[in-house]
Amino acid sequence: MITQVENPVLEIHDLTVSYDQNPVLWNVDLSLPSGKLVGILGPNGAGKSTLIKSIMGLIPPTSGYVRIFDKPLNDVRARISYVPQRESVDWNFPASVLDVVMMGTYGKLGLFRRPGKKEKDLAMQCLEQVGMTGFLKRQISELSGGQQQRVFIARALAQQADLYLMDEPFAGVDMATETAIFQLLKEMADSGKTVLVVHHDIHSAMNFFDWVIMLNLHLVASGPKELVITEDLLRKTYGGKLNLLTKVTDLIRNKDFNPLKS
Ligand SMILES: Nc1ncnc2c1ncn2[C@@H]1O[C@H](COP(=O)(O)OP(=O)(O)OP(=O)(O)O)[C@@H](O)[C@H]1O
Ligand SMILES: [Mg+2]
Repeated sequence: MITQVENPVLEIHDLTVSYDQNPVLWNVDLSLPSGKLVGILGPNGAGKSTLIKSIMGLIPPTSGYVRIFDKPLNDVRARISYVPQRESVDWNFPASVLDVVMMGTYGKLGLFRRPGKKEKDLAMQCLEQVGMTGFLKRQISELSGGQQQRVFIARALAQQADLYLMDEPFAGVDMATETAIFQLLKEMADSGKTVLVVHHDIHSAMNFFDWVIMLNLHLVASGPKELVITEDLLRKTYGGKLNLLTKVTDLIRNKDFNPLKS
């Protein structure tokens, strides 16, 4: 497990987070290098969303702190993009697909500038990347679940951030689209951005992520995928649910996985 790296993009120091005084994340200590596609794995209730929300400053920590780009969050907020978990979004909010993605560009606009052609072109490009240009005027409430999710990914892309925090962005998204967007996130990471993705599928995690964080109320592991996705650490993370893991551990034993092939 690697908790300290040189020139970290994100440092989490001894972070404990609670709801109503009940801690759900205990003493998480880790740091992440730049330019990595990072997976956050763990069972339901492990604290994955809580971790992301507290990195975003949405939940104050009980103890510990987070530094991003060697600064406190408030100094670097404009460089961070967040895709919340599906359940926490109001999909009835009256906005068209194009509106939602244009909102992603606002952070880079000055206080008195209105979005213009440049922002619209960027929004269109991001919609193209998630295959949603055919729905520009559609209200987001009138899309399928997977389509809504794709629009939210496009909004995050339009923010042109340096750090992306994505909470189950592929929930309900079909495999072909997921693979295409994973490729895109990989290219973004290769160009120096850092992309954190909460993800449930261990098989595609093995294929796509460079770095993996395993959580189950405590930090189980954080490090390069090759070191972290092991039978032992998967057991520690997922406990007794071994049926689910059998296939994955077989794959690990056979080394039958190949980056960028799903
Ligand atoms: N607003 C809240 N108030 C009280 N408890 C909460 C709240 N949000 C989450 N919890 C609890 O905190 C724990 C961690 O929840 P969290 O949403 O971070 O899990 P998760 O790993 O994202 O799970 P999932 O895979 O289901 O999204 C859970 O036990 C959950 O019930
Ligand atoms: Mg969650």
